[in-house]
Amino acid sequence: MITLDTIRKPVAADLEAFDEFVDRQFTAEGELLSGMLRYALSSRGKGVRPLLVMLSAAMNAPSRGATTGRRACLAAMLVEMIHIASLIHDDVIDESDTRRGRPSVNARWQSHKAVILGDYILARNMNIGLRSGQFDLVTHVCGSMAALCEGEVLQSDCAERHAMTRRTYLDIIFKKTASLIGVSASAGAMAAGAPNEKVALMQRFGEALGMAFQMQDDILDYKPSARTGKPVYNDLREGKITLPLLCVMERMDESRQAEVAGRLKRCREDASSLEYLQRIVENEDGISLATSVMRSYLSQAIELLTGFEPSEYRSALIDLCAYVGERDQ
Ligand code: FPP
Ligand code: MG
Repeated sequence: MITLDTIRKPVAADLEAFDEFVDRQFTAEGELLSGMLRYALSSRGKGVRPLLVMLSAAMNAPSRGATTGRRACLAAMLVEMIHIASLIHDDVIDESDTRRGRPSVNARWQSHKAVILGDYILARNMNIGLRSGQFDLVTHVCGSMAALCEGEVLQSDCAERHAMTRRTYLDIIFKKTASLIGVSASAGAMAAGAPNEKVALMQRFGEALGMAFQMQDDILDYKPSARTGKPVYNDLREGKITLPLLCVMERMDESRQAEVAGRLKRCREDASSLEYLQRIVENEDGISLATSVMRSYLSQAIELLTGFEPSEYRSALIDLCAYVGERDQ
């Protein structure tokens, strides 16, 4: 299986520069806030978004190996901090105690402080961005924040009603995940000074990759063997109908669909309802149906890359597509 370390190699120096840039720029006043900030930034996860920014910037640079420097670091910081803040808020909303295998910020410092930390990260991000004077990047990246909120509200509404359609599911994951991944890919191209049509093409590439990324996340939620650092079957406990269950439900008649909705309503307290839902996903091909939808988005993403000249960066982006489809963490 292809590893992220291999994919990172062509832009390893840029990613190092990015880490130094964040350490220099992202500081906080006061002991408590700076301790919380350090905690949030010390486990940054896979870093898919900064990686995408750097690969896209390098692939779109005017000459091979031309350094894309500060603008790419700024773009990577803008997207990654929005992502980190959104997960801190998401854990408060989901009342989740664990993130990446360790206590979530809300579990460690309580929800009200976690909300403020998320806000603080967004505020600092905006501040650093505006002070840089790189208004094209700030406008482009920060313009995606509203979509994350729209996706989250739509998702909460569906979870409360125990209802979902394919169209709404696709809308939710586009807004909550694919939009920011699309912006990561396009911001990298923009940072490198690529023409508008290439920026737009990278955005479509990132969005297709982002759709697949969230679908794989939803699939891994059904796999006890996955190494996500999150409890398994979390989505079911939260009342969420994601792609594996949705694919199974689409093949059911109305009375079975009503039975599923009833089980979903009870499954937070009732272990047998949770088990029932796990079993139908397992026995009725939910994982393989969802995997084939996910792969169709990866094929679209790879197809979009044919609009760019071959290079080691383009190959790394193709490898990133393979990684997203195979990952177990
Ligand atoms: C994780 O999804 C959550 C998101 C991708 C987006 C969360 C967005 C908000 C809370 C809106 C606030 C927005 C900003 C800009 C601060 P998930 O719950 O499916 O994944 P998980 O299993 O990792 O928690
Ligand atoms: Mg969550």
